[in-house]
Amino acid sequence: MHMETVITRKSQGYELVDSGAGEKLERFEKEFAAFCSSSYGIGTNNGTTALHLALVASGIGKGDEVIIPTFTMIATANAIIYSGAKPVLVDSEMETWNMDVSKIEEKITSKTKAIMVVHIYGHPADMDAVTELARKHKLWVIEDAAEAHGAEYKSRKTGNLSDIGCFSFYGNKIITTGEGGMVVTNNEKIADKARLLRSHAFGQPRFIHHKLGYNYRMTNVQAAIGLAQMEKADYLVGRRRENAKMYNVLLCGVDGITTPPEKPGYKNVYWMYGVLVDKDKFGMSKEELMAREQGHLEKWSRLYAGGDPNWVYWDKKYYDLVINTYAQNKEETLRIALEKIGYKGH
Ligand SMILES: Cc1ncc(COP(=O)(O)O)c(C=O)c1O
Repeated sequence: MHMETVITRKSQGYELVDSGAGEKLERFEKEFAAFCSSSYGIGTNNGTTALHLALVASGIGKGDEVIIPTFTMIATANAIIYSGAKPVLVDSEMETWNMDVSKIEEKITSKTKAIMVVHIYGHPADMDAVTELARKHKLWVIEDAAEAHGAEYKSRKTGNLSDIGCFSFYGNKIITTGEGGMVVTNNEKIADKARLLRSHAFGQPRFIHHKLGYNYRMTNVQAAIGLAQMEKADYLVGRRRENAKMYNVLLCGVDGITTPPEKPGYKNVYWMYGVLVDKDKFGMSKEELMAREQGHLEKWSRLYAGGDPNWVYWDKKYYDLVINTYAQNKEETLRIALEKIGYKGH
């Protein structure tokens, strides 16, 4: 990271990077929105508040229902619960582990207001099918793109595949500000509302409030870090794809291991590299494999292991291990990972 980007030197000393508002925040919002080819960006203090803000800015609240996939991180559901609405689960499919679009319609009721897709592990969801259903039933589409910075569907970036895209910049994300998030949209009204609600819904005069607002502000310091990250955003995405390609080549000969997909027309950014372990073919269950990895958790993360109570729901079909694809020392990571699963063919 270039410190010059974070703290701007001025003739009389260092510029104080103001908290909660300022030039860095505005620039980061513009740059990140442009990265997604979206018109507006509204920085937030994390990805969960970005999701909540997207929901309340769309007028979703008590008595409403929002459709989400079964396979996601708990924050997707929590943000809906914070808004007063109810998360309605749709099963995930085996190919990309995203929401099974063929099962959405049966979950739509008169209370349904939105479909919130999640581009899980960085592989975009089937957006044409989701958009068609949403148009038919007059629903909002919101993307939980917390794991999918730079991913693409039919050459269009995630975040810009729906009414509103939400990102996380948490420390383990592809682009990070330590903690942070962003709402992106092409809808000016939503952008204005999200910006208003993000900062206590200050009115005119300032301390007159016409709406229930929140303090979901991103600090200028976080934004400055974000700007430094934007300078290498393409590298960060490219590096993950490169590493994933190498894992794919090396793991393709291992019986019982299914590597993550990249469907034609989709660009997977492999935020995490999940593999399916078929116990019978591989000769070891996912649990046994993970138990052997206890000393190497930094290499083979068991973050998203099946049955983790952190998940909204876990279908027993999914047997995955997850490797962080931005490992610094990829040769070493690979060597250890492959040795551990008993693969000696490379
Ligand atoms: C799919 C998904 N949604 C939402 C979040 C929440 O983001 P944050 O931790 O920045 O609140 C995360 C990750 O943390 C996530 O993976």
